[in-house]
Amino acid sequence: MFNKITVVGAGNVGATAAQRVAEKNLARTVVMVDVVDGVPQGKGLDQWQSAPIEGFDSRVVGSNGYETAVGSELFIVTAGIARKPGMSRDDLVKTNAGIVSSVAKEIARVAPKSIIIVVSNPLDVMCYVAMKASGFPKERVIGMAGVLDTARYRAFLAEAMDVSVEDIQAMVLGGHGDTMVPLVSYTTVSGIPVTQLLAQDKLDAIVQRTRGGGAEIVNFLKTGSAYYAPSAAAVQMAEAIVLDKKRILPCAAWLTGEYGLTDVFCGVPCKLGKGGIEKIIEVTLTPAERSALLASAQAVKDTMQVVG
Ligand code: LAC
Repeated sequence: MFNKITVVGAGNVGATAAQRVAEKNLARTVVMVDVVDGVPQGKGLDQWQSAPIEGFDSRVVGSNGYETAVGSELFIVTAGIARKPGMSRDDLVKTNAGIVSSVAKEIARVAPKSIIIVVSNPLDVMCYVAMKASGFPKERVIGMAGVLDTARYRAFLAEAMDVSVEDIQAMVLGGHGDTMVPLVSYTTVSGIPVTQLLAQDKLDAIVQRTRGGGAEIVNFLKTGSAYYAPSAAAVQMAEAIVLDKKRILPCAAWLTGEYGLTDVFCGVPCKLGKGGIEKIIEVTLTPAERSALLASAQAVKDTMQVVG
C-alpha cells in the first residue's frame, strides 16, 4: 500500500479512478484535486462514506489545491476537457496541453519523486507535455491507453467467441487514436492463436471496432467520453506499480530507439513495477504491424507539432 495517491481531475474518469483506487486499498490516503470548488471535496467525502460498506480503509479527501497532495507517490492525471461527438482526441490538444502542463508543474513541486500516469487526451501528446513540464525521467511518466484499448479488443473478442474475457490475451500498441495497432499475431485464447478460432473477416471487424471503441461511447453519451473502462485501466497500471507486480502491460512510453522510434510517446509493452516503467519489451512484429506502428507514431509526432 502507498501512503498517498492523488488523482487530478474529479470528473467522471478522475472520480471513478479515485473510487477504484480506494476500493482496492492501494493507498492510505487518496486525494482528489480539481479546480471546481466543492466537487472534489463532495465526491471525496461521498466515497469515504462508502468505505464502511465496501470495506476499505483508504481515506478519500478532495481539495482545490496541491498542498493536500504533498508527498504523493503516484498521480493519475485526468484533468482536461473530454471529446464531444464528431471530435477527435487531437481536437483537444491546445486546451488540454495548457491544463496538463500546469498540473505537471504542481506535481513536480509537491512530489518530485512521484510517478505520473497520464490519462488526459490526446494521450500520447499529453504524456510528452507532462514529461517536459515536470522534468521527470521517462520511467516515471506513463500513459494509459494500451490497457484500455486492449480491454475493448478483449471484450469484443470474448463476445464474438462466447468465451471468458479472462482467457483472451492480447496487446494493442501504437498511439491512442484511430491509428492504434491491435496485434492480431499476439492474440491468443488460453494460448490458442485467435486466427484458429475466428474467421479473418470477423477479426478485421473487431480490430476496426476497437479503433473506434472510444468514439462509439462518445456517440452514445453525447456530452462526454468513456470513464468506467478508462478508470479501470489506469488503476490496473497503478496497482502494478503499488504492488511492484512487474506486470507486462501496453503503456505509452517515451521511446529512445525501441522499435526504431525516437522522441515520441507511443504504446509499447512495458514492465510496470515500483520504479514505474522498468523495461520496454521489444517484440517481433509482422511487416504490416510494423508499418502500422510507425504510421501511428508519426500521427503522434504530427500532433506534437501543435504543442511545439
Ligand atoms: C477513450 C478516451 C478516454 O478512449 O480516450 O474512451
